[in-house]
Amino acid sequence: MSIDIKQICCIGAGYVGGPTMAVIADNCHHIQVNVVDINKTRITNWNNDDFSKLPVYEPGLAEIVKRRRGINLHFSCDVNHNISIADMIFISVNTPTKLKGIGAGQASDLKWIEESARQISKYSKGETIVVEKSTLPVKTAETIKLILNGSKDKSDGKKFHVISNPEFLAEGSAIDDLSHPDRVLIGGENDQAIKALENIYLNWINKEKILTTNLWSSELSKLTANAFLAQRISSINSISALCEVTGANINEVAIAIGMDHRIGSKFLKVGPGFGGSCFKKDILNLVYLCRYYNLNEVADYWQKVIDINFWQQKRITHKLVKKLFGTISGKKIGILGFAFKANTNDTRESPAIQICKDLIIEGAELRIYDPKVNNLQIEKELDFKESFTNHLSTTANLYEACLDADAILIMTEWEEFKRLDFTKISTMMRKPSWVLDTRNIIDRKKAKDAGLNVWNVGVDY
Ligand code: NAD
Ligand code: UDX
Repeated sequence: MSIDIKQICCIGAGYVGGPTMAVIADNCHHIQVNVVDINKTRITNWNNDDFSKLPVYEPGLAEIVKRRRGINLHFSCDVNHNISIADMIFISVNTPTKLKGIGAGQASDLKWIEESARQISKYSKGETIVVEKSTLPVKTAETIKLILNGSKDKSDGKKFHVISNPEFLAEGSAIDDLSHPDRVLIGGENDQAIKALENIYLNWINKEKILTTNLWSSELSKLTANAFLAQRISSINSISALCEVTGANINEVAIAIGMDHRIGSKFLKVGPGFGGSCFKKDILNLVYLCRYYNLNEVADYWQKVIDINFWQQKRITHKLVKKLFGTISGKKIGILGFAFKANTNDTRESPAIQICKDLIIEGAELRIYDPKVNNLQIEKELDFKESFTNHLSTTANLYEACLDADAILIMTEWEEFKRLDFTKISTMMRKPSWVLDTRNIIDRKKAKDAGLNVWNVGVDY
């Protein structure tokens, strides 16, 4: 016997809650899916009739929202009511790195998790399955259980099962990842609760892909998976520096090592350093956890993955300054791409942020173009101040970003940057003109034939 789920509530309508619930609603027409958030603007945008204005940009997402919204997919600010009618509640709220207090700079800030648990404890009715969807430090389920059961009045008939179901989607490919996941991980103690969640996934995912573990393995697997992925990026980025001084080509090295099936070819793409809301936060969290258990060598090991990432970002700024005769003061630089990767409008921890800030400090005049990130978002990320007026502008036109520039810096691997018209760009730029490609996506020969100087990360010849 498993628990029959008819009403789902998801707390948190962000980059995980929105797409995940859209895919569940699309595959489970018999379930009502209510996504709730305290952020009114976000909910208004999820309910926008102009589907290009949804708060999260993901290929394929708008089509699903169009199909299911108002039928079995609903977005609302009424958190309490939707908790009260739910059989299953997903907690998909943010868990950023703590900014102050104990563990600041490393530990996850769990205040939104705690707040969600308190709301569930107060407003839920009857038997409720609570699913940890957010990425959490090991043993958080214990805290959630304590909060849920702590305030329980024995006569209110409330009963909770807490299970962990971490999300492995990557932004930019979220719908595809959710539709065809490598695995679905469910950690928990109560077989009926696990079965209830498994039954939801079985509507579109094969049973062999569903892995069940104990709660703590599930929570730790999520942190570890992100740490391993990020570690590969720091590894290849560290070797890119060696390639530049030796005349080796990082793209060739990546192919050569990736063909060894024991290594594999994924996540070996050199770049300006990893960004996104997860990798840095989750590794910092892992480091904190290791220090807490006095495993300092293990903590130091994972900390290095983050250190190399920061160093890679700094390296790119230094390289640009060096190529432009040691100074960029008053020079115009076109920044192509601001999102942390292609196919998303998310800018959290984008390497473009640190690099643009450093370039502004060096006195450059930046003109930034990104096809999906708006100017307000860019200004917010760069802490726009009055003094930046002459140093920062944004444009909705790719080629305008290149006008009179001494250099253009490709930061995000958007498709349209792979087909740049270098002849046009070359006539628009000041000479000598540089193209610095931190994603290694351009046709170097075409750029050079058009009279441009070219530098790719990990390829300096
Ligand atoms: P997000 O910031 O985009 O969304 C979280 C939302 O939760 C926000 O809109 C916020 O207003 C809302 N919220 C917070 N407290 C609330 C409350 N008490 N009631 C109602 N709403 C509340 O974050 P995200 O990127 O969706 O990430 C959510 C979690 O999933 C994090 O733990 C993250 O580590 C994890 N995760 C993220 C990704 C990713 O690619 N973004 C992938 C896997 C896992
Ligand atoms: C990551 C994990 O991949 C996903 O499983 C988890 O659920 C959330 O965190 P995400 O951050 O959305 O997903 O995107 P991802 O594709 O992993 O890229 C993260 C960063 O690494 C981006 O800045 C990307 O450009 C960079 N990256 C990725 C590289 O520099 N090289 C690569 O080979 C892959």
